[in-house]
This record gives sequence, C-alpha cells and structure tokens, in this order.
Amino acid sequence: MNKPVPVETLTPIKAEAELARLAEAIREADEAYYRNDAPEITDAEYDALRQRNLAIEARFPELKREDSPTERFGSGPSEGFAKATHAAPMLSLDNAFTSEDVSDFVGRIRRFLGLAETDEVQITAEPKIDGLSLSLSYEKGKLIRAATRGDGQVGEDVTANARTLGDIPHRLKGAGWPDSIEVRGEVYMSHADFAALNAREAKAGRKIFANPRNAAAGSLRQLDVEITKSRPLKFFAYAWAAASAPFAETQTGAIAQFADWGFEVNPLMTRSHTVDGLIAAYRDLESRRASLGYDIDGVVYKVDRLDWQQRLGFVSRAPRWAIAHKFPAEKATTLLEGIDIQVGRTGSLTPVARLAPVTVGGVVVSNATLHNEDEIARLGVKIGDTVEIQRAGDVIPQVLRVVTDGGGAPFHMPDHCPICGSAAVREVDEKGEEDVRRRCTGGLVCPAQAVERLRHFVSRKGLDIDGLGARQVQLFYEKGVVHAPQDIFRLEKRIADAGLPPLAEWDGFGPASATKLIAAIDARRNVPFARFLNGLGIRHVGQTTSQQFARNFLSWDLFWSTVTKAAAEGPESDAYAQLMGIDGIGGAAVGSLCNFVAEPHNDEMMSALLSEISVVDEVAAASDSPVAGKTVVFTGTLEKMTRDEAKARASALGAKVSGSISARTDILIAGPGAGSKLTKAEALGVKTLTEEEWLALIGEA
Ligand code: IVH
Repeated sequence: MNKPVPVETLTPIKAEAELARLAEAIREADEAYYRNDAPEITDAEYDALRQRNLAIEARFPELKREDSPTERFGSGPSEGFAKATHAAPMLSLDNAFTSEDVSDFVGRIRRFLGLAETDEVQITAEPKIDGLSLSLSYEKGKLIRAATRGDGQVGEDVTANARTLGDIPHRLKGAGWPDSIEVRGEVYMSHADFAALNAREAKAGRKIFANPRNAAAGSLRQLDVEITKSRPLKFFAYAWAAASAPFAETQTGAIAQFADWGFEVNPLMTRSHTVDGLIAAYRDLESRRASLGYDIDGVVYKVDRLDWQQRLGFVSRAPRWAIAHKFPAEKATTLLEGIDIQVGRTGSLTPVARLAPVTVGGVVVSNATLHNEDEIARLGVKIGDTVEIQRAGDVIPQVLRVVTDGGGAPFHMPDHCPICGSAAVREVDEKGEEDVRRRCTGGLVCPAQAVERLRHFVSRKGLDIDGLGARQVQLFYEKGVVHAPQDIFRLEKRIADAGLPPLAEWDGFGPASATKLIAAIDARRNVPFARFLNGLGIRHVGQTTSQQFARNFLSWDLFWSTVTKAAAEGPESDAYAQLMGIDGIGGAAVGSLCNFVAEPHNDEMMSALLSEISVVDEVAAASDSPVAGKTVVFTGTLEKMTRDEAKARASALGAKVSGSISARTDILIAGPGAGSKLTKAEALGVKTLTEEEWLALIGEA
C-alpha cells in the first residue's frame, strides 16, 4: 500500500477523491467480511481505513458522501436467508486505541451529562468477543426469531439455525422479562472446537476456516440446519434492544437478569469508576487473553446506569455510552532464517521472511511478509537477524523491526524471477516514481503466472476461444499439455506426445465437444491485431491501449518492429518517441512493452506462437473523409471546441491523432499560442492549418 497523504495536507479535491476511494475500500472489506466470511485485510488495516475516513470527514464535513461508511456498517443480507428487520438498529462501537482515548471517552460522558466533579460514573469492562453478533427476539418469553446483524437495519433470519445452539434458550427461565425484547450477543467458537472442526474438514477434503470467527459465521449461516447443529457454536448475551418494559437499572443488573433467564454471560465483566480502574481491567484481560480458550479482540466499556445510557443516546452508528478498547496486535521475537521470494499470479515478487517457529497469541508462526524491497531497506533487516513480528487479526504476520543484528550481509532482491528466470523489474511511472513492487516480465512463460495469463490469453477480450475457459486451461496445464500459448495450437499433438488418450476420451469432453474445441482453436489461427496484443497480457497494455496501437500502426509487423527498436535503442530513440506520440499512450504502456520484448523468453515464445498463428492487420477505418489515414497533431488553443473533442472528431473521421510532430505528421492544426510544435512543423515542411481551415477541410466550417 502506498503511504497515505496526511489528512492535514489534503486539498478539498484530493479529499473528495480520497473519500470516494475509502468508501469503496470499506465496502469491499465489509463484503468480504460479512457476506463471504473471508476477510481480505487485517482488522488493523480496516480500522485504519475507517479512522482515515472519519478524519477526512471531520476536516471537510461538506464533502461527506451520501453513502459514507460512517453511516453504514456491515453488509446487507446475502441470498438464501429471509430478510429480518431489526426492531432497533444493531449498532457498532467506536474504537479506543490508547489510554488517552479512554480518558477522552469518560470526559465526553461527564460533559454530556453535565456531571459535577464529585459525581461518580460507574463503567463496566467486559471482553469484546470476536465472533458474530446475533439478535434474538423473545415474545412472552418465547424465542420467535434470530437475526444476524446484516447491515445493521436488516439482517438474515437464522432462527432455525440459532435454535440448535445450547446456549440460546428457546424459553426464558425465571421471571421479570419484558413481554417483548431483543436479546443480543455474540456467537463464537472456542479454540479447541475450532481446531477439531478444521481437522475434520481437512480430513474430509473440504476447505478449512481461517479463524474461529469465520468458522462461527460460516457454521451459523448454513442453509442446511443439520450442518449448524453439528457445529460447536456458543453464545454470550451482552446487550438488548426494544424492550417493552424496563427490567433493570444498570448494565450489571441487566446482565445478571440475562443469566437468570438462562443465557450464558461472560464471567469476566468488572466495574470501575476511574479511568485507571478501566485500564487495569483492560490489562488484566489482555494478560489472560491467550488462556481464555476463545478469541477476544479488546475490551468493551459501558456506562453502567441505564438512565444515563438513555440520555447519552447514539451518534450515527455507535452509542455514546460505550466504546471498544482494542488490543494491539500480538507480537513475538524470533530468528529470521531466510528470505524466500514468492511470485504471485500476476507476477509480483514478494519477499517472505522464513522464521524460526514461534508462538504468537496461540498460533505458531513460521513466516511473515516483508512486503517489498523498500520495506526490507526501511527495516534494515538481514538474514540472521532477530526480529520482532506481529500478528494482527488472521492475516499473514508482519516483520516489525530488527531486535538484534545478526551481522549478515544486506539482502538484495533478485533481479530475475526465481520461478522462470525472466528479468524482474520495478516499473517507473509517468512522474518518474518507481513501483514498490518488482514484477516478473515473463508473463506467459512464467509457471507462477501461466494459468492466469493463459486464461486471459484465450478469454473473451483476448483470442476468444469458445469452450476454452478457466477450468479447461487449469486442466490442460496440470496435465502438462498446455504450458505456453503456442501449446494451445498444438493441443492434439501435445496430448499424444504426453502419452495421454485423445481428448475425446477425457472426462468431461466426449467426441463432440473435443471436435468442437479443436475447431474453435483452429478458427483463431488468424487473430486481429488488437485482440492478439491484449491477449498477451502485458502490463498497462489492455484493451483500449491495444486498440490505439492497432489503429495507429495498422500493421502488426510494423508495430512489433517499432517496439523491438524502441526497446533496443531506449527512450531517446525515434521509435520510442513514435510510440509515445500516439494519443492516449503513456510511458507506462511503452515501458512495459519494451520490458516484454527485451526478455529473451518472451521473444522465443512469440516466435513459437507466430509460427502457429497469424496476426491480421487492422484495416483503416473506412471513411471518405479527406483526413482518413492522415496523422494529425493539435497544438495551441482551439476556439470552437475543446482539444479532446477535436481529437475525438478527428479519430472518428479515420485520422490518426498524435501528440508530437515528426516527419510522418501530415497536418498540424495550430491555434493561437502555438509554440515549439509549430516551429518544428515548419522546419519539417509539415502542412499547417488554423482551426478554421481544419474545420473547412473536414466540412464542418
Ligand atoms: S455491545 C450498542 N459488547 O462488537 C452496543 N459488543 O464493534 C452493542 N461485540 O457489533 C455492542 N463483544 O458484535 C458489545 N461485550 C460486547 C461485545 C460486543 C463483541 C461486538 C458486537 C458489535 C461489535 C461492535
């Protein structure tokens, strides 16, 4: 992740863009977490996103979005369960990270209630259970509905599932319960039950759960109730809503009632009237964390008096009377035994620390991410050092710092891909900034990337081969018959050479579909320029860029020889300038094309591939306009239209719009204020027109 710009220095325009980005990122994270039970970022990263969003909204209140994440949390119900509207919204909690945050929380409460110095505010402290929240509706003591949180307003009706939990009473015991009430709490799974479940799942060849929280969520939200029944889920009651009558005066009293009614309540709740007392409770729970037998991720403080809770009320998504004091990520110290390089599906190289195994918060950790080479330099970490690592949430642990220098040599990232041996480079963007990631330029020839790249190569936007989808690509790859794009066009021979039965005899094929597939492949032996280029999957050379190249060069051979020349002669060459001169083409695309052709493995692959197929040249847009096929450049101020409009109009008429003057330029359209381009055009004898003359030429004057 790039370092975020400090909120204080954001301009309103940047802030607006940033709020849009954060809204999207938070929405995605919510989706992954709530709907798919598969978190993609750590809790700490998630909290950082929300904090940043809040900070920007605080500084630019007028920029707050209608769909601001501050107003929304969780994710709507997923399909498969009936919707359940909560009688009162299921809210979230604000977070405190430091003792100051806790003391601010207490200060805010005192001010809000207008309390005198001598008034005591009793506050409860209880573990924040890391599971999923559930709201249980009781009417006349009978459980009538159970609902997940969903988006806070509407959740999923999981009544049948909830009834299978031993900790959830179907009928309230004792007395004193209101006629109607929603009792809320957390469904969770103990460490021991989680380990046993995963062992069972693994043995059955099923997917294992990332952590107890996902296991709990995945187990509760089963359409087949029998599955939920077989899962060891537990429940703690800690809150309520929509009670038809008061039933307690304090939080402590309410929880005692819950216990009487037959709920499990957490035994570790305490109460204090000083900040120091709360912090002591926090430290105590933190020290017991590893031995509790279930996951907790902080401590929740709540104002004890319910009349005060009532007066304090809520601000947007969270109560004023409660806050969650999060535990910092768990840390440990160990020896860095080595640094491995992992190559991702799209070619990025990630250094991974190989560690002497160490227990962090109950989990044995033997590797941790080092992110990228800048991070390694920043940490100054070397093989043989003793390092401090951190495990936040359930994602891969991180190396935080060097504790003792082991005296080893500085680590250098390899400049070749450890998987395929192709050059691994850091791209430089338009602003001259280096990408933090190093990427393998091998693409289609790199086994780490092959399946992903081959899939793209044959996809709709690439060669568009019918009947050859992700599943078939994976299968052919695993059978060893398609490792490179040219293999697709030699499929039958490759299958025979590998000693495998003919495709028609493979599971899932049969004679008809085998014949059809081979025909579909053959039909693509003549492939249009733009499709072919896009299919190669070169970074920054997508569909639009490929079309731009095709329209401007028309001939594949001319294009490819220009790229080859640009790569050999470098950024100062004419060939390079010619590529850069194309409208809409930037340094990222040209740089990455050059990296591609400079890699010998790719060169070999291209020769092999082009011995199987032919690239069909692009045909100039049919147009009877006098400017069709002409290369035109615009400079200076245009008066009748914007520059973008003028370029679009010219392209539509079949002209090639370029950004720079060369001997190949046919017409320069120069408005007032034209400078060096005009001088150069005159020197080269390029025809120069005013805007008026241009419009007359294209018949639009
Ligand atoms: S009280 C209106 N108490 O944390 C306040 N929540 O970040 C309702 N949680 O959605 C929440 N343990 O899923 C409360 N002891 C506890 C909790 C707890 C876990 C969860 C709950 C809530 C989330 C807020």
